[in-house]
Amino acid sequence: MRKKIVAGNWKMNLNLQEGVALANELKEALAQEKPNCDVIICTPFIHLATVAGITEGTVIGLGAENCADKEKGAYTGEVSAAQVKSTGAQYVILGHSERRAYYGETAEILKEKTKLALANGLKVIFCIGEVLEEREANKQNEVVGAQLADSLFDLTAEELSNVILAYEPVWAIGTGKTATAEQAQDMHAFIRGCIAGNFGEQAAEEISILYGGSCKPSNAKEIFSKPDVDGGLIGGAALKCADFKGIIDAWN
Ligand code: 13P
Repeated sequence: MRKKIVAGNWKMNLNLQEGVALANELKEALAQEKPNCDVIICTPFIHLATVAGITEGTVIGLGAENCADKEKGAYTGEVSAAQVKSTGAQYVILGHSERRAYYGETAEILKEKTKLALANGLKVIFCIGEVLEEREANKQNEVVGAQLADSLFDLTAEELSNVILAYEPVWAIGTGKTATAEQAQDMHAFIRGCIAGNFGEQAAEEISILYGGSCKPSNAKEIFSKPDVDGGLIGGAALKCADFKGIIDAWN
């Protein structure tokens, strides 16, 4: 059985003290009621080492939101996969549409980042998704298929076993406009088919595919009820413990 996962992406929100408070609140809430899924929080780099001290020994996994496409050296301001790993984090989000759109991250760059993250023992939450114009032109499958092929299809099946996919239609991120459960299911089934085509049926059956984009406690249950949706990657609703817990509880 593949893993069910609810992961939070804090993006560039919360100062260190606020992040610590949220991590502690979540730890407390999940200690009282064991979740029915894996729970991960992905935080800004500066939070990682401190939050790792809070999540260690709990059910909460910890990840970064990005890492460098270079191993080490004179790359001022960058943070390497090895440095992320050394904080105690176990995951890294790569390929988020905000990184692709605002920081020019290409498929080639993401391929490098993915390889380095995996080589350094991190699990990768790899994001894919189309923009509104592509959806309106009915090109979503073509776009998402190419994003997968161009960055991930050179991996071995063994490497892929440490990758989680997150389908995040860009038009649904932070807009309050979620994909319907049917739209999510159709795309997730398509993605699983792409994985089967390149890596085989077993890899496709085992990979977790998360939905992201205006997911909240009120719509999570319906979206997660679809057979190819294995959980969510949550932005805004991950910033409040009650909302994030509400989405986790959609698996109960
Ligand atoms: P929202 O949940 O705020 O729409 O963000 C989704 C997202 O981008 C998670 O990575």
